[in-house]
Amino acid sequence: MNPIQIKDKKFALSIPDVEIQKAVREVGEAINRDLADKNPLFICVLNGAFMFAGDLMKTVNIPCEITFIKLSSYNGLYSTGAVKEMIGLNESVVGRNVVVVEDIVDTGLTMERILESLRAKGASEIKIATFLQKPDALQRDITVDYVAMRIPNDFIVGYGLDYDGYGRNLKDIYTVVD
Ligand code: IMP
Repeated sequence: MNPIQIKDKKFALSIPDVEIQKAVREVGEAINRDLADKNPLFICVLNGAFMFAGDLMKTVNIPCEITFIKLSSYNGLYSTGAVKEMIGLNESVVGRNVVVVEDIVDTGLTMERILESLRAKGASEIKIATFLQKPDALQRDITVDYVAMRIPNDFIVGYGLDYDGYGRNLKDIYTVVD
């Protein structure tokens, strides 16, 4: 399969759509088993998690709500290290079981910030569901409850993840080659 070009970079196919769908379904099934009587509030972290959350919620069949927040720490290929404020959470999380739905846990800085904020707002139990994790990049002591796929510490695009705003619409995952 030929590499694709996004802006100044080439990317090669690394995880095809069928594998993604299977892994996401397994996360949904695990959540159905674990949280059946917990009335969870799913919090989808935009923009990157929109596709994962969309597919995940088709498998999740327990009573639940879903809402959306936004923040970002990335600028191009490298983390800026600075995580912006969490915006857009209008629902009360006091006493709620919350599931944070993320595209990827990379260094863990973003997730640490989200967890701090949700704890401060009074969430009773917080679980993390991430589409991807780069275990070798983790810099924070964060336990991720649900991981669809673990990947090496390379820059990827597709299935919601972007390179400078592009590539989010790809249904497969592509890894930078040059
Ligand atoms: P962290 O704070 O370093 O864990 O980074 C989390 C955010 O960085 C994710 O929500 C993504 O939006 C972005 N990110 C991390 N790795 C990649 C990647 O390989 N491609 C695109 N975005 C990424």
